[in-house]
Amino acid sequence: MSAATAFDILRESSPVVSVGILTADLLSLGSELALLERSGVRVVHVDVMDGCFCPMMTVGPPFIKALRTPLLKDVHLMIAEPLNKVADYVAAGADIITIQPEACSHVHRVLQQLGTLKNSNHPERGLVRGMGLNPGTPLEVLEPLLDELELVLLLAVNPGWGGQKFIASTRGRVAKARRMIADSGREILLGVDGGITRDNITEVAALGVDLIVTGSAVFDGKAAEANAKFMLDAVNVARTSASEVRGS
Ligand code: DX5
Ligand code: ZN
Repeated sequence: MSAATAFDILRESSPVVSVGILTADLLSLGSELALLERSGVRVVHVDVMDGCFCPMMTVGPPFIKALRTPLLKDVHLMIAEPLNKVADYVAAGADIITIQPEACSHVHRVLQQLGTLKNSNHPERGLVRGMGLNPGTPLEVLEPLLDELELVLLLAVNPGWGGQKFIASTRGRVAKARRMIADSGREILLGVDGGITRDNITEVAALGVDLIVTGSAVFDGKAAEANAKFMLDAVNVARTSASEVRGS
């Protein structure tokens, strides 16, 4: 029997919560990952920042490789000129790899390059290629790229830090991106990243997105396991009501 692809896993469990790990206790990474696994989380989000495209510097391929976990690794590259750098992240174990068009001179070529790479965890699992869009980037940038990607990730904050406030115009952008994807006739997942907390996750899930990234609201230094379970419960409610609407 062949393994399910990362794309299928995400699509079948939509909406999926992807938990940002950078505000976790990085010196206790193993137990922080175990906590996510125990809570029922299936995807871990890693924000890679290079001190160039983003003011902050975070982590690189060795960190991705050090994440020994069955969770899908959702790697968000907020780095300048990822062409010829993406292979190292894939080799380190990325299952989902998202780039930013604002950071690329040759964005289509980077997607093509990703299309030639195999998932290093399981060759049959495939890679999900994502396009992350800053809040100020027009959605039209997606149009010529839709044939070469599997995920659109709308940033609801400007890239740089965890713990920022959700930008309200993201709601309209989600609706517009959904229409663009539907009109393309392609199966492309839609996600939102940034500013998602206990207070707004229910509302964000109800927008009809497939992937919800939340970081500092889970790893808040207090009750990470309870926070993760809260987020999962909230999206489960959205999933159930969406399937009831489809069935009615
Ligand atoms: C923004 C990052 C986000 C963000 C998530 O630069 O891409 O992933 O840090 O963190 P919270 O959930 O704290 O906004
Ligand atoms: Zn991110």
